Amino acid sequence: MKKQENKIYTQEHYQEMYNLSITDPNKFWGEAGKRLSWIKPYTKVKDTSFDLEDLHIKWFEDGTLNACYNAVDRHIEDGHGDNIAIIWESNFVNEENDESYKITYNELKKNVCRFANTLKDLGVRRGDIVTIYMPMVPETVYAMLACARIGAIHSVVFSGFSAESLSKRIVDTNSKIIITTDGSYRGDKVIDLKSIVDKALEMTPVTNKVLVCGRTNKPMSWNGERDIWYNSIAKYMSDECEIEEMHAEDPLFILYTSGSTGTPKGIMHTTGGYLVYASMTHEYAFDYKEGDIFWCTADIGWITGHSYLVYGPLTNGATTLIFEGVPNYPCCSRVWNICDKYGVNILYTAPTLLRILKKEGDFFVTNTSRSSLRVLGSVGEPMQADLWQWYNDVVGNNRCDIIDTWWQTEGGGIMISPLAGFKQSKAGSVSFPFFGINPYIVDNDGKPAPNGTEGNLVIKDSWPGQARTVYKNLERFKNGYFSTFKNFFFSGDGAYTDQDGYIHITGRVDDIINVSGHRVSTAGVEFALNSNPNVAESAVVGFPHEIKGTGLGAFVVMKSIDSITDFKATKNELKSWVRKKNGPTEVPDVIYIVEDLPKTRSGKIIRRILRKLAEDPKSELGDLSTLSNQDSIHKIIDILAQ
Ligand code: PRX
Repeated sequence: MKKQENKIYTQEHYQEMYNLSITDPNKFWGEAGKRLSWIKPYTKVKDTSFDLEDLHIKWFEDGTLNACYNAVDRHIEDGHGDNIAIIWESNFVNEENDESYKITYNELKKNVCRFANTLKDLGVRRGDIVTIYMPMVPETVYAMLACARIGAIHSVVFSGFSAESLSKRIVDTNSKIIITTDGSYRGDKVIDLKSIVDKALEMTPVTNKVLVCGRTNKPMSWNGERDIWYNSIAKYMSDECEIEEMHAEDPLFILYTSGSTGTPKGIMHTTGGYLVYASMTHEYAFDYKEGDIFWCTADIGWITGHSYLVYGPLTNGATTLIFEGVPNYPCCSRVWNICDKYGVNILYTAPTLLRILKKEGDFFVTNTSRSSLRVLGSVGEPMQADLWQWYNDVVGNNRCDIIDTWWQTEGGGIMISPLAGFKQSKAGSVSFPFFGINPYIVDNDGKPAPNGTEGNLVIKDSWPGQARTVYKNLERFKNGYFSTFKNFFFSGDGAYTDQDGYIHITGRVDDIINVSGHRVSTAGVEFALNSNPNVAESAVVGFPHEIKGTGLGAFVVMKSIDSITDFKATKNELKSWVRKKNGPTEVPDVIYIVEDLPKTRSGKIIRRILRKLAEDPKSELGDLSTLSNQDSIHKIIDILAQ
């Protein structure tokens, strides 16, 4: 890592830096950009406009670089090749014969180069899009960095997605090559990933190659014309591979996230700005220090995995820990045992995981040491004050920095968060904006909301980590983020500022629901339910859930309710249907089979009422006079009462 020229020493220094990042972004980011190694240094820093007529976002535009070189090679050239880049912790605990292992930067480079040469051998070229459908194994990182090395664009699809969801993403990118494994382990489950890819490709009209890496070594179906066993070619490949010189604004990756229409959006990030931002936030938000062991528990298939398992820490020459398994296998101390096993200093996780572990009782935490922990981060969903306190008191023994970080796929890296080491944390709050982030909280007319009043969270100006577009759909990018509030980026979240100036996130204000930190589009789940031949229509809403934060409640109208003899079985069939269509994260927690949905006279479903009922059937429902079918409500209340 370029040594920490910008290191903060005092609160005043921090304030000065933040002010500069807002008042003179060219100067601030011009300096910050030097943390990367550029092939051709940039002379231009910022060229951005949020004006709908002239929307453009370009950072470090005339500079050239390679992301893989920054994440791997330069640390070796700096003499740190023997430092550990990746610690891989297997799903299984076996003290005598532990299959977990560590990978140095020297080894990482060889593995990545071999992977890159394999991709080249299969015909992958600069600008091609490669789909990666992989579990939490080091090969996933090799595959991503191999793409970056040769200038290909990766599209990592979360391995919990169904065959149909995977197929949609392959079709959207027209990706000709899919990288996967024979299977994966998650706790006591073995997941046959290859068969999901096979099913996805049955629905996908493009010709594909499937590169299969080994993990479970269980028997699998094989299509000799299409499938390639990674080891069978990689063993012939050189462990050296030239880097491709990329422009700062060349795409680095596409990552799909839920959109309000239900069709996933391919959020596109480019090379220079993203990498500067991922690396800088990793260092400053977490107060990363050389030699720290950094563990981000997010899956690599989400943006948190991209920025804080791979690009942020590796660009900073850090040691990043990848855990294959689940937090409560083989027991609920697993996370804390891993912290002790490797001396983890910085842990970055999500409220859902904390809620699961908190529920099991403090003993599973307190019977471990956790003495190496210094910074405890959280991301993905609101962390209520009591959970924050538990994280601080029980996990952190009251001596760690707690940082609740707010950001999103579109942001590339942490956008609002306390900076560890600066005593900026407050229970229930995400505190203050990161450098370069200028947030406003506005009412629906775009006027600033007074302190204490909830409003829409918008950002005034561009930051380097910002997504550049929705893949092949600039219109959707414009409409989704820049058309609601003129000249602002709209996050889709609600927030308020308290009397001390701390920002609190209140949750999504659109029809996205945050389930266990996963963005789920209600429209997408409804689309899946409505495609079942027995379903007439449906409405999906969120309700408070003890573990997931928000659960999914589906109100479903069947075409013929009278023919149902076993309601439980029908509901289970519908759940399996959604699982097959959208994957396990989008399966409703509760399904209510109802006769009718509450609607306005013009036929629009009133979700507001369903939301209240799902939360509490005894809720005060307010004025129902606009309903065309008031009777539907009473029947729904009866069903909920059962
Ligand atoms: O609603 C916010 C919530 O997660 C959304 C972004 O989801 P995604 O793009 O999948 O990225 C997740 C990880 C960066 C946001 O719009 N969210 C994220 N962090 C927080 C949060 N809500 C409350 N507090 C947070 N710290």
